[in-house]
Amino acid sequence: MADPNVHRSSTFAPVNIAVIKYWGKRDTALNLPTNSSLSVTLSQDDLRTHTTASCSPKFTKDELVLNDEDQDISGARTQACLRELRGLRKEVEAKDGSVPKLSGMALKIVSENNFPTAAGLASSAAGFAALVRAIADLYTLPSSPAELSRIARQGSGSACRSLFGGYVAWKMGTEKDGSDSAAYEVAPASHWPDMRALILVASAEKKDVSSTVGMQATVKTSELFNHRAEHIVPARMTAMEECIKDRDFATFADLTMKDSNNFHATCLDTSPPVFYMNDTSRAAVRVCEAINTRAGKAICAYTFDAGPNAVVYYIAENEGQVAGILKSILGGKMGWNSLQGRAVQAAEMPKGME
Ligand code: ADP
Ligand code: DP6
Ligand code: CO
Repeated sequence: MADPNVHRSSTFAPVNIAVIKYWGKRDTALNLPTNSSLSVTLSQDDLRTHTTASCSPKFTKDELVLNDEDQDISGARTQACLRELRGLRKEVEAKDGSVPKLSGMALKIVSENNFPTAAGLASSAAGFAALVRAIADLYTLPSSPAELSRIARQGSGSACRSLFGGYVAWKMGTEKDGSDSAAYEVAPASHWPDMRALILVASAEKKDVSSTVGMQATVKTSELFNHRAEHIVPARMTAMEECIKDRDFATFADLTMKDSNNFHATCLDTSPPVFYMNDTSRAAVRVCEAINTRAGKAICAYTFDAGPNAVVYYIAENEGQVAGILKSILGGKMGWNSLQGRAVQAAEMPKGME
């Protein structure tokens, strides 16, 4: 029988894959970026994190178990999320003396990703979005998605975008305290409902340079990076918002592929260089370029996060020309697994989670 002293809440959170990449922090303590970014939230029917948060007077210390392994949560970023959420719970407890004092109890968080963790498929985004929302639900916080997004950002920058559905921008902001650095919905998924994303798994292995470590090295050592953050990304953010508004796929694809390549160029310009893409990734790039050449216009857009795995965006009517050809050519190269070749839809947040 369930222990009445244990309070528990479970939630799911989706992955988001950026088409204009976040790479670089201007403030590592608050996790504030050096440039704005823009992403598409993918359906959590396919890729998702499932997280359960519980607390009890019997628990002795905060714990996080991820994919059945104990995690070290002493890091400042996870601690910041827990501290902020407990602070909000204290406000609830101060207002209503009859609610249980959950803020004083240790937390046990158990999480599972149903896709490769730390392999460049945005596990930290879905992971911290789920962690924050599971605890907020456990604490019955009245917080808005915007407020939870601000907290999740401190766990992992990209997580701030996974609290929203559809097409999501994260405006870098200029304030020192990060008060204007926030994610918001540019357009709901229903605005461009035939957008699809194909997930191609080149390797499910944990990367050897985490996103956090990689971007810090880039900020420190790459000159190309300064040009990207100051000139390239600001112009692309405006252009990307425009083409999403116009449902102009050819421009969307051009910007997406260029931005992925520009981001990976800054990784190569880092000392020592950071290699996230591998031979299989480059084979996927070549096939996409060939598909676009044959079609006479861009009908598919590859993008790679900090890892070797490709996400290919396309419009549903081009399913055969894009997904069909990618599968037939790359099928042998990319170790098949349950996610490969799945057309993942862009999605809204499920009801009750907005
Ligand atoms: P990715 O490309 O998958 O986002 P990162 O290097 O950004 O890779 O982050 C990976 C780290 O994110 C993991 O090592 C872990 O610390 C954290 N993480 C991943 N999934 C979860 C989760 N479900 N809950 C909490 N933390 C997670
Ligand atoms: C390449 O959000 O994982 O996926 O804030 O250090 O946790 P931390 O980094 P993270 O970086 C994501 C980098 C990216 C691009 C993106 O998602 O915008
Ligand atoms: Co990440």
